[in-house]
Amino acid sequence: MDNRPIGVFDSGLGGLTAVRELQRLLPGEDIIYFGDTGRVPYGGRSKDTIIRYARQDVAFLRTFDLKAIVIACGTVSTTALDVLTAENDIPVWGVVEPAARAAAQATRNGKVGLIGTQATIRSGAYERRIAQGAPQIRVMAAACPLFVPLVENGRFRRGDIVAETVVGEYLEPFRTAGVDTLVLGCTHYPLLTEIIGDYMGPEVTLIDVGRTCADAVARHLTDMDALSGPGRTGESRYYVSDSAEDFSRLASVFLRRDVEESVTQVDIWKY
Ligand code: DGL
Repeated sequence: MDNRPIGVFDSGLGGLTAVRELQRLLPGEDIIYFGDTGRVPYGGRSKDTIIRYARQDVAFLRTFDLKAIVIACGTVSTTALDVLTAENDIPVWGVVEPAARAAAQATRNGKVGLIGTQATIRSGAYERRIAQGAPQIRVMAAACPLFVPLVENGRFRRGDIVAETVVGEYLEPFRTAGVDTLVLGCTHYPLLTEIIGDYMGPEVTLIDVGRTCADAVARHLTDMDALSGPGRTGESRYYVSDSAEDFSRLASVFLRRDVEESVTQVDIWKY
């Protein structure tokens, strides 16, 4: 048993798709979330900058006595997981491993699509992980840099002509290639699930990396006997590097409920 909180972070709001799932699966766990809303997006930045920012995010989270850290960000998971794992004496989990496994299990025709930020696609992390376990699977990958700003600006609902046009343009090659599984390799993308699902069709399985990561974290903590004590109700606290007010308004969309918990702004450059 371990009553310490789980630290979760993302470049912005996308990681909340993983938090929602963690809260559903593990209602007894305390969660400390940091969203680097002042510096989002990370996805178009260099590897060095992403690692520097991720180290600061983790340094802030480690001011709390945590039992584990969840990198609820595709960009940081694909670019800085090794560094963060080596530098921390508590488990650090990212989104790649569980999503790659889920994609390999889901595909029937061996054609898997991967969409993510430029940094995620540049890393080749999914291709490497899938090739280890299932070298026969072909991975087709493309960056979708306009998806994060669309989502952060609330432009993700069915009928939004801009979002639908951008989705069609990015995903047309995947539909033509006949992928039967598409990894939404960025934690912002699940908000576009309806539009992406409509475009790709019902026979294509969409892998939500925040959700598969949360499932894996729940299993790890159970296996390690590191869940919080029985009968507890977990609490979540949110920290951001930009305005707390803006966060609460948009976060409710990601969490699909009002954010009543405390949201605090921090100066991330201090860490
Ligand atoms: N949520 C981040 C990810 O999963 C994307 C946003 C960004 O570019 O910072 O990759």
